[in-house]
Amino acid sequence: MVKEISIRTVWERFSEDQRRKLDKEKWSQRLGGLFDMAIKEGHRVFVAEDENQSFLGYVWVGERSNLMTGTRHGYIYDVFVKEEHRRKGVGMILMEKAESYCRETGYTEMLLMVAINNQPAEKLYIKQGFKAEQKYMLKRLT
Ligand SMILES: CC(C)(COP(=O)(O)OP(=O)(O)OC[C@H]1O[C@@H](n2cnc3c(N)ncnc32)[C@H](O)[C@@H]1OP(=O)(O)O)[C@@H](O)C(=O)NCCC(=O)NCCS
Repeated sequence: MVKEISIRTVWERFSEDQRRKLDKEKWSQRLGGLFDMAIKEGHRVFVAEDENQSFLGYVWVGERSNLMTGTRHGYIYDVFVKEEHRRKGVGMILMEKAESYCRETGYTEMLLMVAINNQPAEKLYIKQGFKAEQKYMLKRLT
């Protein structure tokens, strides 16, 4: 279920321009395959549920390394809370869970990427202690 949610929400966050350039079916299969492979390689997905075991949200965390230094760090691939359960602290709980997992694993840093127009997520990350260190820049060639 988390895989399907992840595919859907990542798609919804793409711009019109990005969506136009992609074949949704092929792209979904590719992301689904990547998700399966990531889980096999040890990535973790933590799910938040209410007292009736209804799904509230999830966080997907794995490992990445810095190409230049070779240092391994925890990486937040995605965090998602169902729309009707937002602003109730679920995102904070999921990020705290991801952080304890990273600490237990022995990472000394956690990284993530966030779209510049995703204010809710950026504010959540800042509240969790993240700071912007680098800018990811893109130049359109078409
Ligand atoms: C980002 C997201 C996970 C936040 O989940 P949430 O459960 O609503 O977050 P919380 O209730 O724990 O909020 C924690 C803090 O984040 C910030 N925040 C969360 N939503 C916000 C919003 N809509 N506007 C401004 N700040 C927001 C606030 O600082 C908030 O603290 P406060 O409520 O005391 O002001 C949720 O909005 C979501 O699923 N968005 C769609 C998926 C997404 O964009 N994921 C990020 C991928 S990079």
